[in-house]
Amino acid sequence: MELTYRPRRLRRTPALRAMVREFQLSAADFIYPLFVHEGASNEPIGAMPGAQRWSLEGLVTEVGRAWDLGIRCVVLFPKVADGLKTEDGSECFNEGGLIPRAIRRLKQEHPAMAIMTDVALDPYSCDGHDGIVSSEGVVLNDETISLLCRQAVAQARAGADLIGPSDMMDGRVGAIREALDEEGFEHVGIISYTAKYASAYYGPFREALDSAPRAVSSKPIPKDKSTYQMDPANGREALTEALLDEQEGADILMVKPGLAYLDVIHRLRGESELPIAAYNVSGEYAMVKAAAERGWIDERAVVLETLLCFKRAGADLILTYHACDAAQWLRDG
Ligand code: PBG
Repeated sequence: MELTYRPRRLRRTPALRAMVREFQLSAADFIYPLFVHEGASNEPIGAMPGAQRWSLEGLVTEVGRAWDLGIRCVVLFPKVADGLKTEDGSECFNEGGLIPRAIRRLKQEHPAMAIMTDVALDPYSCDGHDGIVSSEGVVLNDETISLLCRQAVAQARAGADLIGPSDMMDGRVGAIREALDEEGFEHVGIISYTAKYASAYYGPFREALDSAPRAVSSKPIPKDKSTYQMDPANGREALTEALLDEQEGADILMVKPGLAYLDVIHRLRGESELPIAAYNVSGEYAMVKAAAERGWIDERAVVLETLLCFKRAGADLILTYHACDAAQWLRDG
């Protein structure tokens, strides 16, 4: 054939392919989510093979391992004891609580590692919702925000570098920014869960923290989070959320879940100059692990391809439970 242009020319050798490769993955792109509990030993999580509920000691060791692999940020999630859960989730701003203690300990042992936190009531609420549930079963917006601000300040005081509001209440980014500034934490950043969808992909995470919505009394409890998390049918609405978060002072915008929402990542990339993060969530992790365990897919190849595709879609940062494995594979070449 007489073809002028043959795209295969640049795919012919590894050297040529490396020269024209548009995106690279590196361990510094990853934010590593870690679960922590009060127990003295690490506990495996059924639906997330390889992930643990870490003891404080175990957490310190795991964060050291992540640092050595080139990972520069971790995000912490607490498994809170049932006895500490209340309707208003007030344990969330206890400065002696599990998360503030974990942050202080990590900052002693690994001071250079960036620490991100999650701001929402669900791990601390007996109802399992991210906000306060009224006696009529409504998740209250403005009443919840004052608690979230206190939670964010407690985390900043313990030494957090990046505060991650995941609650999807309206106006929370601006309120948290103001609360942090008032307390002298103007240097602490906000990585906002900007476009967080009401997704079934969070199932394994809710198992890890025992945080699924549930009724514990006669109070009616919404079965899902669809009055505050976004409808998976909506793409344009993510741009509205992004605009609000930018105006309110977010430093980084996040899309969650990741894989089924690459179009949303791409749209935010086109609209904003802020760094964009993608959350490769627990259900996405569980699917890969389950298929790999059965020998149906090549785990290493699938994980590295998936993470790279987040970058191609427009993400600068990726929250992923595969972070350490992927960093090791990148190092092995
Ligand atoms: C808490 C929170 C959730 C996740 C991160 N922060 C669960 C939820 O909103 O129900 C999910 C993360 C994952 O599935 O990996 N608000």
